[in-house]
Amino acid sequence: MTESTPERQPDRLIKVQTADGEREVDIYSPEGFAVVANLWTRSNWQRKLSYEVTWLGIPIIQLPEDILMVQELVWKNRPDVIVESGVAHGGALILYASLCDLMGRGRVIGVDIEIRKYNRLAIESHPASRRITLIEGSSTEASTMASIRSRIQPGESVMVMLDSNHTRDHVRAELELYAPLIGPGGYIVVFDEVMPLVADAPNGKPTWDLDNPLEAVRDFLKTHPDFEVDSSYERMTTTYCHSGFLRRTVPAS
Ligand SMILES: C[S@@+](CC[C@H](N)C(=O)[O-])C[C@H]1O[C@@H](n2cnc3c(N)ncnc32)[C@H](O)[C@@H]1O
Repeated sequence: MTESTPERQPDRLIKVQTADGEREVDIYSPEGFAVVANLWTRSNWQRKLSYEVTWLGIPIIQLPEDILMVQELVWKNRPDVIVESGVAHGGALILYASLCDLMGRGRVIGVDIEIRKYNRLAIESHPASRRITLIEGSSTEASTMASIRSRIQPGESVMVMLDSNHTRDHVRAELELYAPLIGPGGYIVVFDEVMPLVADAPNGKPTWDLDNPLEAVRDFLKTHPDFEVDSSYERMTTTYCHSGFLRRTVPAS
């Protein structure tokens, strides 16, 4: 067998810019894999790949790798209630509800500032809809929180998915409001931390460099030591949820 060294396969070496200048990285090294994943993420953002996916017939605006990871998380964690902020067409709500159907347990609450008529119709007429409650309103409004809380019974375990307005301030406010719903061992998933990575991509915006959910997560973790990043759900490497799977720690007994 021919030995596969970088010298024999020059296309396995890619040039990267670092603070110390340009250097070559082997795509088969862990560093090279991360570089390729970042390049692919930036390129797919420009192609709006996450708008191409449906779940059981309903558009779901997620990266396929993140859908897989969230599926693992829900199956493993088996929450009584999943709250999603930011419904859009409803594909993720249907994903969570279909998992609940297979697990034989769980309900889903979807919150959106505007639930369009045809989206509501598609969600409410879907076979998985019996598990779903829709709430129209801003995710940070007191009335929305009251409506969510009224649908959760004492002692029920809750998982929260934050995928609405992706500004730093909004996500930071959501984290503060929704974190108290999470019990020890429970999770909040924050979507679209990819924004700083694609700020200078063709469909990105320079302001995303600092105004993004990742900054909100960093701020939140500084004052909430009872939450930690579970990076095992980032192992696909291509993800829009960098540092986005937040687990509430279980106090030592
Ligand atoms: C990225 S989409 C959600 C995608 C959806 N989670 C999915 O997986 O298909 C963002 C949604 O957030 C909603 N949104 C924006 N600001 C909001 C707010 N303040 N409160 C609740 N929803 C909001 C928008 O109307 C939009 O439908």
